[in-house]
Parts: sequence; C-alpha cells; structure tokens
Amino acid sequence: MLLAALHQSCSTRGPSEAKRRQVVSRAAPPTVNTSATHWSGGSPLILSNGQITELREHAAELPDELLVCLVGDMITEEALPTYMAMVNTIDGIRDETGRSEDPYAQWTRQWIAEENRHGNALSQYLYLTGRVDMKQVERTVQHLITSGMDPRSENHPYLLFIFTSFQERATKVSHGGTARIAKRCGDEQLAKMCGLIAADEGRHEAAYTRTMDAIFQTDPSGAVLAFADMLQKQIVMPAHLMDDGRHSTLNDGRNLFKDFSAVAEGAGVYTAQDYCSIAEHLIGRWRIADLQGLTPKAAEAQEYVMALPPRIRKLAERKAVRKAKAQKTAVQFSWLYDRQLAI
Ligand SMILES: [Fe+2]
Ligand SMILES: [Fe+2]
Repeated sequence: MLLAALHQSCSTRGPSEAKRRQVVSRAAPPTVNTSATHWSGGSPLILSNGQITELREHAAELPDELLVCLVGDMITEEALPTYMAMVNTIDGIRDETGRSEDPYAQWTRQWIAEENRHGNALSQYLYLTGRVDMKQVERTVQHLITSGMDPRSENHPYLLFIFTSFQERATKVSHGGTARIAKRCGDEQLAKMCGLIAADEGRHEAAYTRTMDAIFQTDPSGAVLAFADMLQKQIVMPAHLMDDGRHSTLNDGRNLFKDFSAVAEGAGVYTAQDYCSIAEHLIGRWRIADLQGLTPKAAEAQEYVMALPPRIRKLAERKAVRKAKAQKTAVQFSWLYDRQLAI
C-alpha cells in the first residue's frame, strides 16, 4: 500500500518540468578525455600472430562458465544504439541535431564512442578464441538491439541519471568479476582487457553519480523521490530481452537471460548481493540519510530508500539458500555450440 502510494507520488509530485530543466542544466557532466591514447581497452587486441596463438592457448583452458559471462557482457555492450536512443529520449538532455554542442549531447557522444570499444574488444577476443559460436552470438545481438529496452526513465532526467549511475557501477562489477576469474585461470591478457573495461565503467559511473550529486544539492526532494521511484520499480537490466532464437527450444522453454544471469551469479561475476551493494553504495554516496528540508512526500521516499537494502539482502540470501538446495539442471547454450552447463 505504502509502495503504491509512494510510486504514485513519485510519478506525479516530482519537480515541475521547468524546474527539472533548470536543475539538470546546472548539473551538466564533465567532458571526458577521448583522445586515442586515453582509452586502452581495445589495445590488448591489436596482436601479433604470436600473441594470437598465445591467446588461443590460454582460451582453450578457460571454463565455459567464464565464456558465457564474457558473451553475455559483450552482448550487453553491443546493444549501444539502444543506450544512445535511451538518453536521447529525455527532454533537456537529448542531442537535438546529432552534432549539438550542448554539454549533455557532447558527453553522450563521447560516452557511446567509448562504450563502442568495449563491445568491439570483447567481440574480437571471443572470435579469436575459436570456442564460441559467433553466428549465434551475433544473432543474439541482432535480436537485442531490435527489441530495445525501456529503463523506465519516463522522460525524467533524474530517473535516467539514477539508472545510468547504477548500471555503470553494475557493469564495472561485472567486468571486474570476469577479470578476476581470468587472472585466477592464469590468463593475464584477458584479465588486463576486462580490467581496462571495468576501469572505463568506473569513470562513467563517476560522471553520472557526480551529475546526480549536483541534482541532490539543488533539488534534494525531487532527487530522493526519483531515487525511491527507480528502486521501487527495480533497476532494469539492459540485456534482459536477449534471445538467441534457440535457447528456449533447446531447453524446454527456459529463458536465455535468466540462465546467463544464473551462470554469472554462480561464478560470482554479478550477483543479487551486488545489486544490493550498489543500492547501498549510492545511498551512502548521495547521503540519503542526511538529506534535510524535504517535502513530506520526499521524507517518506527517504525512509523507504533507507529501509530497502536490508530487505533486498534478506530476499537475496533466502534465494541463495533455496538455490543451493535445489538440484542443478543441465542447460545447453547455443553460444557454446550447444555445450551444457549445470545451473
Ligand atoms: Fe561498457
Ligand atoms: Fe560504461
């Protein structure tokens, strides 16, 4: 009941559009350094023939679970047109011409250019391993971009920046997780590539959270209402509509994204506990507990946000216990030439 009331209040009683525009215009993000030397995520893939042989030798030893995580991460990165479209749906932020000098439009183009290299690097790596059915991977990318994604930002810039702050941190965690496993497997080259991508995500996260810092300072009530709204709706996973055209047929109607997520969870690459930790981090970062002078509705939202992480954590723990007790199922992945994984 409280949630429903809160959701309604978040949707209808936020700041007026004119106020939002003013606040958002003052919070413009920093421009990023996009010189060729700055971004290095792609460079480990500019390889000599000897290095390619070495890459394939290392890749031959990698567990299939890691390959599934890398493919899922790559597919998420490759749905870039969706993310650019998502930002450009928002009044006051969108690139009005395709080459606008507005700071938000410039930032978005720079951000997308950098994200583009993440997908390229991972795609080239996976192709070179020879262990992944790239036709099926590309088919999944094709479907995902065609499906699009609704982050539920409702033409509201605060909602969008909360979403991007959250998701940049989530991708940092995920690429950091694959880097850790690659290192454990002794594949320094792959660990370096994933680590560099994770570092990029960290810079993107910093830019978006700083933009929200400024919004929280100028309009704390509107910002906390938006934060509560996004958490209440749950942060949408960008690749949740992925489909390879075969997974459900191969596996009695199972869902590809859920199975990819289960593999990532089992490998410790991205877990339900990470979701909770990110929410806690943002609550601390934006000092939600210390916000003062809020409207009554915003004070309710503040209370809701503060109480949420322990509830999510408890649910995640219960789910993990149930999962540990459940019998594993053999699931085939077309990405791996139909090889099976126990989920
Ligand atoms: Fe990325
Ligand atoms: Fe990013």
